[in-house]
This record gives sequence, C-alpha cells and structure tokens, in this order.
Amino acid sequence: MTHVLVLNGPNLGRLGVREPEVYGSASHADLVDAAGRWGADVGLDVEVRQTDDESEIVGWLHEAVDTRSHVVLNPAAFTHYSYALRDAAAQVTTAGLQLVEVHLSNPAARESFRQHSVVGAVATGTVAGFGFRSYRYALAAIADALADRPT
Ligand code: DQA
Repeated sequence: MTHVLVLNGPNLGRLGVREPEVYGSASHADLVDAAGRWGADVGLDVEVRQTDDESEIVGWLHEAVDTRSHVVLNPAAFTHYSYALRDAAAQVTTAGLQLVEVHLSNPAARESFRQHSVVGAVATGTVAGFGFRSYRYALAAIADALADRPT
C-alpha cells in the first residue's frame, strides 16, 4: 500500500479541548483513527504524527522526500508565517510527490492573519473548512491523483 504521512502542527494535539466551537469536540486520537480508516478505504497506508515543534515537522517533510511518501499537512499556525516549513514543503512537491495542505476550519473566513498561507503556493492543493472531513477529502485527492483519475 502507498504510504502517506499525515502531519499535524502546533496545538492540534489539543483537539477536543482547544476552542471546540472552532475545531470540534473530537480528539487528536479520534482523528488518527478516522484518517487511518479513510486512508484504508482508498488504498493508502496512513501514518499520522503531530508536533508543536517547527524543526520536527521540517524533519518529517525531509523524511517524506527521502522515503517517497506523499503528505497531508496541517501546518496549523505555521501556515501563516513559517518560511522554513514552506521551503521544506516545496521539496516534497518538487520531488514529484503529492502534498495536500488541510485545515479543519476555513482560514479565509477568520481573522486576517489567517487569510494568508505561506505554504499554499507550494502545495499540490488545499482543502479547508470541513472539520475532520478535510483530511478525508485530502486522502481521496491523493488516491485519485495516484490512480490518475479524472476530476
Ligand atoms: C488550522 C487553522 C490555523 O489558522 C490555526 O492556527 C490552527 C488550525 C485549522 O486546521 O483550521 O492551529 O490550521
């Protein structure tokens, strides 16, 4: 099965506790379960990781290049200012791998500082605003791209 790394950035380990009115009441462990099931449904072997540490997530993106893993990335707050993350994400897509940026909320409908992603321009595409289902649609998009299915 094709391996996909699902990488979650800072504060996403606090899902269920953190601003449930924005991010929902389910936990990161629930997201790990759901993403694993949704991946298996479309023939992907999904590994979910979360960190609050910028250097760790940069290292995981390097690992994705070296192991030829596709990526679903929720950069969380790093979305809006981390050029280090952007440069690491660019290495994934320029290596010919899929990298789908995801967000639980719809940053375009929130505070102005959330309305710009420094990662978006180097991602294959972005899915935002569907809660956990953003991950489901991102995994489906990767599976479709790998199968070269028309949209
Ligand atoms: C988020 C949106 C970001 O603006 C925010 O900093 C997050 C979560 C989302 O999934 O909606 O931590 O990436």
